[in-house]
Amino acid sequence: MPDLTTTYLGLQLKNPLVASASPLSKKVDTVRRLENAEVAAVVMYSLFEEQITHESQELDHYLERGTYSFAESLNYFPDMDRYNVGPELYLEHLHNVKQAVDIPVIGSLNGVSTGGWIEYAQRIEEAGADALELNIYDVPTDLDMTGAELEDAYVQLVRDVRARVKLPIALKLSPFFTSMPNMAKRFVGAGANGLVLFNRFYQPDLDLEELEVIPNLELSTSHELRLPLRWIAILYGRIEADFALTSGVHTAQDVLKAVMAGANVTMMTSTLLANGVGRLMHILTDLQEWMQEHEYESIQQMRGSMSQRAIADPAAFERANYMKALNSFDQYVR
Ligand SMILES: Cc1cc2nc3c(=O)[nH]c(=O)nc-3n(C[C@H](O)[C@H](O)[C@H](O)COP(=O)(O)O)c2cc1C
Repeated sequence: MPDLTTTYLGLQLKNPLVASASPLSKKVDTVRRLENAEVAAVVMYSLFEEQITHESQELDHYLERGTYSFAESLNYFPDMDRYNVGPELYLEHLHNVKQAVDIPVIGSLNGVSTGGWIEYAQRIEEAGADALELNIYDVPTDLDMTGAELEDAYVQLVRDVRARVKLPIALKLSPFFTSMPNMAKRFVGAGANGLVLFNRFYQPDLDLEELEVIPNLELSTSHELRLPLRWIAILYGRIEADFALTSGVHTAQDVLKAVMAGANVTMMTSTLLANGVGRLMHILTDLQEWMQEHEYESIQQMRGSMSQRAIADPAAFERANYMKALNSFDQYVR
């Protein structure tokens, strides 16, 4: 049997399959079922900055009106109050989950500004989490805010959270940075132990009949794997951080690609919501079979084997392959 063990944020994991932040962690029983289905670790659904501060005018306004027409960032989880409970109940639930299972449980904090709310990082540590995932989900709409100012603020946020906890910190990032490598380096310099690539942004749609903005939360497909895959492949071995790949992991092939690019773990939500937690067992079986057929002994052995540093043609991950890819469609012109 191939050795599926891996490490992530200093945690020893039995395989590279992790359940990412989602409603799957809202009930202790579901987390137990995930554990029975051999998931290696669970990231809790997020505790949101807005939930903690709860004083944003926009949020109050939005809650009163119950529409989706306010800042796009609030549309991430429009039913936030229903999606999550309050901060205290979140901590209690985290504690209960931790008591109920043997697998590592990673707490999740979701916000963008530094401020009182980040004390909850410490509270999450006290509640027994094995690590903390910090999700910077931001949709900046201010015309006067520069990229550099925003980037500095995000780095400061990581520093501030780092100062509050001893826990390993993973940073869940958006793909929308002008210089991803530089930001990755700065975040790790500020104290992040791992990078979770990438946050999936839920794009609102327009209802043409009702003339309303509708929040659009669609599940992913394997196609979305490629963006994080490329960036993990480029960053692997160049900065001192672990990598988790999230977005588009649905099959054993997706897991294999992620590991070969350099991921320590792969994270899943969509496929587990669509197919049930039993999907994990299928992916694990397929993973083992594939590794046996291809004579790989361990996950460790294949990790980073197709990263940019390892492959014969590093330009394949860069612009140099762009023209070639475009030209490959010439034959379809009729
Ligand atoms: C219904 C739902 C709820 C989610 N809740 C959270 C959350 O609370 N915090 C967070 O960081 N990500 C959250 N996510 C994002 C997932 O953790 C994951 O990163 C994303 O769905 C991409 O992975 P996938 O392609 O496997 O779905 C949520 C996703 C879905 C579909």
